Amino acid sequence: MLDISNIEFFEKVETPFWFYDMDLLRSTVEKVVSLAGRYGIDVHYAVKANEEKRILEYVSSMGLGADCVSGNEVSHARDCGFPADRIVFAGVGKSDREIAEALRTGIAAFNCESLQEIYIVNALAARLGIRARVSVRINPGVDAHTHRYITTGTYENKFGISDHEFSRLVTLLRRCDWIDFTGLHFHVGSQITDVENVFSLVCERVNSIVEWFEGQGFPVESINLGGGLGVDYENPDGRPVADFETWFGTVAGKIRRRNGQTLHLEPGRSIVAQCGTLVSRVLYVKVGETKNFLILDAGMNDLVRPALYGAYHKIENLSSRLRPNLPQSQIYDVVGPVCESSDVWGAGRFLPLSVRGDLMAIRSAGAYGQSMSSRYNLRDLAPAVYSDDMHGARLRTEYFQE
Ligand code: LLP
Repeated sequence: MLDISNIEFFEKVETPFWFYDMDLLRSTVEKVVSLAGRYGIDVHYAVKANEEKRILEYVSSMGLGADCVSGNEVSHARDCGFPADRIVFAGVGKSDREIAEALRTGIAAFNCESLQEIYIVNALAARLGIRARVSVRINPGVDAHTHRYITTGTYENKFGISDHEFSRLVTLLRRCDWIDFTGLHFHVGSQITDVENVFSLVCERVNSIVEWFEGQGFPVESINLGGGLGVDYENPDGRPVADFETWFGTVAGKIRRRNGQTLHLEPGRSIVAQCGTLVSRVLYVKVGETKNFLILDAGMNDLVRPALYGAYHKIENLSSRLRPNLPQSQIYDVVGPVCESSDVWGAGRFLPLSVRGDLMAIRSAGAYGQSMSSRYNLRDLAPAVYSDDMHGARLRTEYFQE
């Protein structure tokens, strides 16, 4: 929740910008660290959710590892304090250059997603004379019951290796002299809200797959279940910290672990979503034929989730909190400035009467917000402002008060 003193300060700041509540980030990560200790789970933060330097530095200082999906993420994670042996590298399309660089860096493991990739990792490892630790990503054929663009564990998806290739996989692994097989990796989807049911199903599948590999003479030292815990986009203040308790408790209770086996999770969204807000301003109020539009100065290039997934983000008029005597409300279509009809923050939103210059908060924007932003329409990238260090805030210089 943004307090009034924040809002008074924001009135002077150039918009749009990303505001990060560092107290909330800290209490979220502290919760994760304490549950991880209690349930014996090793946590790697999914860097793709938000790779801001300050956030990564804090997350690494708390002992979490990093789950990376590109060579640049691996080197950025190193720069932000993650030790090489706390970094795993996933992704269906790692380039030869990225693989070679990660080998030289000495990362904890590659999460390999196809037979051909395993072959190439082995060949590059042999050429460089550096052994590769490889965990194999499996497609377990489990539906996560989330948006189809962020479902990854069904046979329709490009991710992981599925059952019909298992025997070819073990034959290949036996021939790969430069690979040390470390374990199995799974990730069935993101923004999973039916945590207990989906993960119970995943765990059942994982237990039988682990058993199969061990039966073939491949000890599965690490069992990595990926990320996916959902957050409450409708009510960010009601549930600012995601339900890590249910997630950790379910997987720790359901995965059969023998001695020496480690269990890993890779949360991204659930760590950073709620601490981030995209702060914007109303540029224009347009009275249309059938609707009223609030045109904001933040657009789909800043936060693409509504345009790409039809995702819901709560929108608040912050300035209206400074004028509590104006109770009227209106229904608005809240839109951005980008030249695309899908650049809509929310259609038919019930908001306090809003005027040009009002500050608007787009909530739960810390995950897959700044990290997915682009310069489409050649717009500037919005800067980050941290609650405990407002240096990133650029003061407003030019504006016309109506
Ligand atoms: N591990 C792997 C292998 C992943 O592919 C992902 C996310 C994660 C962990 C982290 O998942 P999380 O805990 O954040 O759910 N841009 C989309 C989300 C894409 C997720 C991609 N993979 C969105 O804005 O909803």
